[in-house]
Amino acid sequence: MITGSEGIIVSHVIRLFVIKYPNYTIINLDALTYAGNLENLKDVEQQKNYHFVKGNILDAIFLDQIFQQQQITDVIHLAAESHVDRSILSPLDFVYTNIIGTVNLLNTAKKYWGGNKGQHLFYHISTDEVFGSLGDTGFFTETTAYDPRSPYSASKASSDHFVRAYHETYHLPAIVSNCSNNYGPNHFPEKLIPLFIHNIIEKKPLPVYGDGLYTRDWLYVKDHASAIDTIFHHGKVGETYNIGGFNEWKNIDLVKLLCALMDQKLGRTKGESEQLITYVKDRPGHDRRYAIDASKIKEQFGWEPSVTFEEGLSETIDWYLDNTEWLKHVTTGAYQQYYESMYSNRDI
Ligand code: NAD
Ligand code: DAU
Repeated sequence: MITGSEGIIVSHVIRLFVIKYPNYTIINLDALTYAGNLENLKDVEQQKNYHFVKGNILDAIFLDQIFQQQQITDVIHLAAESHVDRSILSPLDFVYTNIIGTVNLLNTAKKYWGGNKGQHLFYHISTDEVFGSLGDTGFFTETTAYDPRSPYSASKASSDHFVRAYHETYHLPAIVSNCSNNYGPNHFPEKLIPLFIHNIIEKKPLPVYGDGLYTRDWLYVKDHASAIDTIFHHGKVGETYNIGGFNEWKNIDLVKLLCALMDQKLGRTKGESEQLITYVKDRPGHDRRYAIDASKIKEQFGWEPSVTFEEGLSETIDWYLDNTEWLKHVTTGAYQQYYESMYSNRDI
């Protein structure tokens, strides 16, 4: 069972698993919140080894039925509330899904895998944000102490602790991985890269928070999916793995690169999209820098990113330009209200 399967990362994980492992039966469980979109997996929905189930991880009775009916052997858990800005507006939604939802899943796995734990795996997907914020140098390693600073990262940190606690206390076979910022096709346009691609297409302002010198380590989503595949099949129970791109960018430099690539692709004058850059009020508690040391999975399994940032970004922009209907669909209705509430009155 793979949870949260219609969001950006999971849709790529599911596609990879459905195609690469025809002998697995893959149950895709998703509540289809604003971030979930069945269009993301249209191309695999007819495959025999793929089954979509609509359901909420907050519903323990439903989870019990699914485990019983489908005889779930392994879980890759990605379902989550994932946007930091939304967590600042509404922390409790993150407590419910990310903490209570995860504990519901752990309880159900514990119940059904009771006497036979060696043959199962609960693989929990987490984030580098649990480690807090770095200064100008250094990296997060697997042993960096947790120091979450937003409601989102606090909820993810809590869920990681619960997964490890169930491993220690009940011997539930579990693995956790912590990944850096993903980007790629199918990304909901609330996060930096897809939001800015959308705004550049529409010639709308590009709202850069604060001084724009915040740093993130970007990884192409298909590379995160391949790391998850590697860890699921070769990772050691009880271990933690960091996943990242060794690819740090200050936000403003990334935005300028995006503008330049899009000007070329849209046939606009050089420098035209950069004119849209608008500095706006900062995110409260904004973490200054994230950077992952991903040497453990490289050394143990030979995993490393397969594309450069320029290649991945170019492919991503092409995907958005080729999928304008998808973009139109996800940016109507509730999105407009979200955008208004997040970005109006944000002038410095
Ligand atoms: P996303 O927001 O794009 O998608 C989340 C999915 O979870 C959606 O399909 C949504 O419908 C589903 N969902 C939400 N609440 C649910 C609930 N209560 N029950 C069932 N389904 C529910 O998320 P994403 O960016 O694909 O992230 C997936 C996971 O990876 C999350 O756990 C996130 O913390 C982690 N992660 C994300 C990134 C990133 O850069 N996006 C990086 C590292 C780790
Ligand atoms: O590091 C992994 C995390 O990356 C994941 O766990 C989260 O689920 C994912 O959302 C992401 O979190 P960030 O907060 O880093 O991503 P976001 O795209 O929201 O922001 C990236 C940077 O860009 C951050 O410094 C804030 C800034 N930003 C973001 C938006 C949406 C802006 O300057 N303007 C914006 O409008």
